[in-house]
Amino acid sequence: MIAKRGNQQDERTNNTDVISKTNERSGEEDGDEGKTMPKGTVMNGVWGAIALVLTLLCPGPLVAQEGQDGHHHERINVMEYLDRLDSHERDQDQKPAQVVAALSLKPGMYVADLGAGSGYFTRRFVEAVTETGKVYVIDIEPEALKYVEDSLVHMHRSFEAEFILARPDNPKIPFESVDVVFVCNTYHHLENRSEYFRNVKSSLKPNGRVAIVDFYHDDRSGEVGFPKRHLIPREKVEEEMKAAGYHLAKEHTFLPKQYFLEFVTD
Ligand SMILES: C[S@@+](CC[C@H](N)C(=O)[O-])C[C@H]1O[C@@H](n2cnc3c(N)ncnc32)[C@H](O)[C@@H]1O
Repeated sequence: MIAKRGNQQDERTNNTDVISKTNERSGEEDGDEGKTMPKGTVMNGVWGAIALVLTLLCPGPLVAQEGQDGHHHERINVMEYLDRLDSHERDQDQKPAQVVAALSLKPGMYVADLGAGSGYFTRRFVEAVTETGKVYVIDIEPEALKYVEDSLVHMHRSFEAEFILARPDNPKIPFESVDVVFVCNTYHHLENRSEYFRNVKSSLKPNGRVAIVDFYHDDRSGEVGFPKRHLIPREKVEEEMKAAGYHLAKEHTFLPKQYFLEFVTD
């Protein structure tokens, strides 16, 4: 397997925050079957050193404490968290194949996986757009980007991806570069969302879309492992996106616990 670096450095410790990577299959296998990620506690960087303002959604409870400010504060095992996001148990409700099919992705398309987490969707996007397209893997956590990068390499297939360490208020997607910005279980993490997505407009190609999947704030989502007031009602998403200059183009209703909305610019 040959991994070819782009023009950015793969050193997340030296302030380089965008990494391009083209992975080309050479036919030479390293014997690994599937993804093998290091296990154990990782408590460095942003994840472990600070009390995370954490509304990290995953299939089960991860965060135990809630501070007086209403936010969750807890040190977490990042690898465990990312492994959980990647869990097959999630598939039943998350229906990833159906979600990707609903997005009508084609080879050659460019997709931004905003708040990529473990890469649960990233790997599927890479397959859908093939190496003729590109996936921007975006997260505010360097360790998530590394996790996704490793998992993509272990797919043993050609792919085109760029890893972007986002700022909380800016995903740093290049100008007019993407057909779809995909935001799964991440919308509720963002602040000043109308302003955020107003700025995202310049990253969309003509006819580009923003697809938002997030948990319902009511009983439909079941147990999410944290207080549901952290979730954003579907109607509020529509309002906020309207204020940002978008309108709802499509709504998919096959997910039992989450809304799935596609927006285009006005
Ligand atoms: C609940 S996870 C969802 C991961 C993935 N989308 C999925 O569905 O499996 C939320 C992710 O969003 C990231 N995140 C939180 N705030 C963000 C921001 N402002 N910009 C980009 N990523 C963010 C977190 O680090 C985390 O990896």
